Amino acid sequence: MKRIFLSLAVAAAVLVGCQDNEKNVELAQEQIIDMSDFYVHTDADQSRGVSESCHSMRVLNRQLKENPELYKKMYDVEYATRKFIAAKGKPGNGGGNNGGGSEPTPDNLGVINIPVYVHVVYSNSNENISDAQIASQISVLNEDFRKQNSDVSNAPAEFAPLAADSEITFSLAGTFRYASSTTSWGTNDAVKATYPPVTPETHLNVWVCNIGGGILGYAQFPGGNLATDGVVCAPQFFGKTGYVQAPFNKGRTMTHEVGHYLNLRHIWGDGRCKQDDFVADTPSSDGPNYGCPTYPTVNCRTNDMTMNYMDYVDDACMYMFSEGQKSRMRAIFQSGGARASMIN
Ligand code: ARG
Ligand code: ZN
Ligand code: CA
Repeated sequence: MKRIFLSLAVAAAVLVGCQDNEKNVELAQEQIIDMSDFYVHTDADQSRGVSESCHSMRVLNRQLKENPELYKKMYDVEYATRKFIAAKGKPGNGGGNNGGGSEPTPDNLGVINIPVYVHVVYSNSNENISDAQIASQISVLNEDFRKQNSDVSNAPAEFAPLAADSEITFSLAGTFRYASSTTSWGTNDAVKATYPPVTPETHLNVWVCNIGGGILGYAQFPGGNLATDGVVCAPQFFGKTGYVQAPFNKGRTMTHEVGHYLNLRHIWGDGRCKQDDFVADTPSSDGPNYGCPTYPTVNCRTNDMTMNYMDYVDDACMYMFSEGQKSRMRAIFQSGGARASMIN
């Protein structure tokens, strides 16, 4: 497999070499997309009771292995994303410094609303979560993605200016309830095969079901198969009222998973210091943080943005996306982008 990554990287370099000069400049920082970055490099937390380990990344690893076309598609998504971000700073394009920095990449999409279908798949009455619990999750998503969460005020001075209003909102489009004798669904997308997504081109589909193994949730990145597109979340970690379990009882598992669904990586890049999350304003880190870290937490010679939704800390201790993450998420809604079909 490694050989294929390298040849794709070389193909990309050749492709870029063939562009006109202006585009060369545009893509200067993005020339080679190393697809090996798309794989998990560490097994950080095998020993923990509640396994927070990245099941979104595990699922991606499996899908990439099973499906070479997906590999190519995700490459294209990454290429388009970096091109969009790099285009920032071009004359007449909103000005500012180079792409991926602390300023959001301008676009004219305004506030983007994502309609959400929730599939509640339950094997007991606890798992058949209430409408109020579902509503609480939608509220958390709206607060977090619009920087209306009150805890963002906890951001240290170093990171406060980077906290972003992503200008993405969520509206509940429908709830489906299914009784099932399956008590544990795992992460192999069986729940999606049994209860298929509804119009995933235009709607975020969320399955709320017991996953098992202490897994909180997992998401599919943009560019994947529509039949498995969406987010799976365990009922105890969905929303902030009702059948919820501390310390993941503030709805932030969904904020994190929807971050993946909108193309965000973990802030440590799923590897050591040199591995990247493809976002310039999130400092490099060596691995996930857990619990509620004290500031500053230093790794790779910089302070970790432990309070970022894409780290693994407790719900109460994560409260921001960065401006660079905002640009990366919004890139996939641009014309030709992997989720452009959600813009009406
Ligand atoms: N580990 C999970 C994943 O990456 C989610 C982690 C969510 N963290 C939280 N504090 N809720 O798929
Ligand atoms: Zn994750
Ligand atoms: Ca970064």
